[in-house]
Amino acid sequence: MTAPLIIDPDAYRRQSPEVAARFEKLKQRPIILEVDKLRKEFDSAHGSHVAIEEISFQVRRREFVCVLGPSGCGKSTLIRILAGLDFPTGGDVRLDGKTVRGPGSDRGMVFQGYTLFPWLTVKQNVMFGLKVGGKPGHLAESEAREWIALVGLSKFENHYPHQLSGGMKQRVAIARALANNPRILLMDEPFGALDAQTRAQMQSYLMQIWRQIDVTILFITHDLDEAVYLADRILVLGANPGRVMELIENPVPQPRTPEQFQSEPFQALRARLDALIHPPSLHKEDKLPLTRMTVVGDDVI
Ligand SMILES: Nc1ncnc2c1ncn2[C@@H]1O[C@H](COP(=O)(O)OP(=O)(O)OP(=O)(O)O)[C@@H](O)[C@H]1O
Ligand SMILES: [Mg+2]
Repeated sequence: MTAPLIIDPDAYRRQSPEVAARFEKLKQRPIILEVDKLRKEFDSAHGSHVAIEEISFQVRRREFVCVLGPSGCGKSTLIRILAGLDFPTGGDVRLDGKTVRGPGSDRGMVFQGYTLFPWLTVKQNVMFGLKVGGKPGHLAESEAREWIALVGLSKFENHYPHQLSGGMKQRVAIARALANNPRILLMDEPFGALDAQTRAQMQSYLMQIWRQIDVTILFITHDLDEAVYLADRILVLGANPGRVMELIENPVPQPRTPEQFQSEPFQALRARLDALIHPPSLHKEDKLPLTRMTVVGDDVI
């Protein structure tokens, strides 16, 4: 007989000395990102709208933190504030102890939409930030080549973005973001536009890259499996207004493999996230007040 599924992922942490030891070790690392009582209100002609009521959390060096939450809970607003592209109406964001006041090369960004310059080749796209940062051309070129090799696209360095698949474009975007040696990589649903197979491949590439370099990753996603597969910890946000529901330590052992999708800790954490994101009491409110506009003549639904 198979053992019953344990829905409490903390139970795995308590049961598994390896997982508990890993989190104890992670706690020795220095904190690099502090989000402290962050609040964001948007003003519009219809009055003000509280997008984020209060969010506080900390991220340690080389941690992989996923942010999960329903549409409209303020995930993109949060990451834009971390990137310095928008400003909070309350609270503070500190990177390495310094308050974020605008964009900076200590943060790399990768968005869902393809953001490469279409008129530049792969190599020129990756070199762009390096040259803006003052690197001489030959040095920028050799460094760009190394990053392109890291994402496995050396053969395509002279291609233009329109000659690449969606997954390849996002690999170039990752190389470009990493080329400036950011302290933290901020990713807003970077694989959201990819088909399921390419997405799985990109998750695996990202895990391999993250293991090889000294970078911390904050990764926004809608996808529960993606969050459990990638994250050390998962920040679950609630909507209306945006707030922290839970910050969960992922008990699935590292390094991750696709086989773990069927494992009990994976499924337990997934079930917990599902219950947080889709609480049963909401289902009734989710119903639209529809009236049938056409007479179909059969009653199969
Ligand atoms: N520039 C803006 N002006 C006014 N309201 C905004 C602005 N940007 C975001 N909002 C509002 O803030 C809330 C959070 O938006 P945000 O884009 O951060 O959500 P999200 O969690 O990223 O959603 P999704 O999962 O759909 O991408 C929403 O209610 C949105 O309408
Ligand atoms: Mg968003």
